[in-house]
Amino acid sequence: MICKKTLLRAIMLPRPAACLRLLHIHRRSWPLVFLLVALLLFLSVSGYLEEFLSGILSICHSTPSHVPSPQVLNVPIPPFLLSPASACSSPPFLLILVSSAPSHRDRRDAIRQTWGSLSSSTASASLTLFVLGVPKSPEERAALMHEAVTHRDIIQANFTDTYRNLTLKTVTGLTWALEKCKGAQYLFKTDDDVFVNTVLLSQFLRGKYGLQYMGRLHWHVSPTRDRDHQHYVSHEMYGDSYFPPYCSGTGYILSHGAARLILEQVRSGPWLPLEDVYIGILAQAAGIAPSHVAKIAGSLTVAHSTCCYRIMFTSHKLTPKAMQEAWNMLKEAGSHWCPSVLLLYCKLFSSW
Ligand SMILES: *[C@@H]1O[C@H](CO)[C@@H](O)[C@H](O)[C@H]1NC(C)=O
Ligand SMILES: *[C@@H]1O[C@H](CO)[C@@H](O)[C@H](O)[C@H]1NC(C)=O
Repeated sequence: MICKKTLLRAIMLPRPAACLRLLHIHRRSWPLVFLLVALLLFLSVSGYLEEFLSGILSICHSTPSHVPSPQVLNVPIPPFLLSPASACSSPPFLLILVSSAPSHRDRRDAIRQTWGSLSSSTASASLTLFVLGVPKSPEERAALMHEAVTHRDIIQANFTDTYRNLTLKTVTGLTWALEKCKGAQYLFKTDDDVFVNTVLLSQFLRGKYGLQYMGRLHWHVSPTRDRDHQHYVSHEMYGDSYFPPYCSGTGYILSHGAARLILEQVRSGPWLPLEDVYIGILAQAAGIAPSHVAKIAGSLTVAHSTCCYRIMFTSHKLTPKAMQEAWNMLKEAGSHWCPSVLLLYCKLFSSW
């Protein structure tokens, strides 16, 4: 607890009073102070400061007490209706699980035609699959079945596809991955309106090892107690005033081992309806600390420019048209050079 509070205080920018005190120092030192402030601003806006600080979280966490067991998982989810196991016959390095809704056919097609078209045999060594529940209307059910037969990229379990069932959707996708795609070393959970630079993400992950739970970190978030709110959480569901630190559901990485330890913590429902928070709670119970990745945009839509798609791992809230444009920019860029400091530009000119 004390550890968390100190961390939070460290993240906050210096207060004006502290700055004024700084200004009393000799004029000759001003350029140095200016440089330091600029550096601090760069580090905090770019997210690198948070990335560094989040590394300390793992010290606060107790490490997992046991090595993941290789046995079959016992996760209480409904049976699978669609299971594209053949897609994993040659396991990808990175398996991307996209949470999608039945009516989002246009978004799924946009992903299939763009970043999702990359396969295990390309530089990204990734496989993209969609995770859905069962649509309410018979027409939608038939359309989805037809789509699944055509593309063989849909994982479906027997639950009603609703917003409040999103947690079930995530748990379904992760369970499927661990049971039917055992060779995938990393899992990436994302949504159907997110652009993912899979090649860059894979390159980044090749340098990692051990248990990993990474993404856009959210610290010190309190549950919404307003009954009419989409994200309402009752006291029975979650009693504490704050959630543990968790990674934004728009895109988080789990190494195979971390996913297994997390799923071992799943108990029978009802589950917290916020899937990303729920994974954060399970991770904490499993003793896995989340870490911040500056290049994962979270809920930001980064500046719509070539370099941003080359530098960032994700960008949120892209329409199918913008998704196609982003993909074309990325493809046409070739070896176009983009210095990393442009990350600052991508974030400063981003929107929510
Ligand atoms: C799916 O669940 C429904 C009830 O929720 C049940 O009637 C149906 O038989 C189940 N289908 C399969 C294939 O398990
Ligand atoms: C979630 O899915 C289950 C199984 O189909 C269903 O019984 C339940 O009503 C759904 N929950 C919500 C909140 O939609």
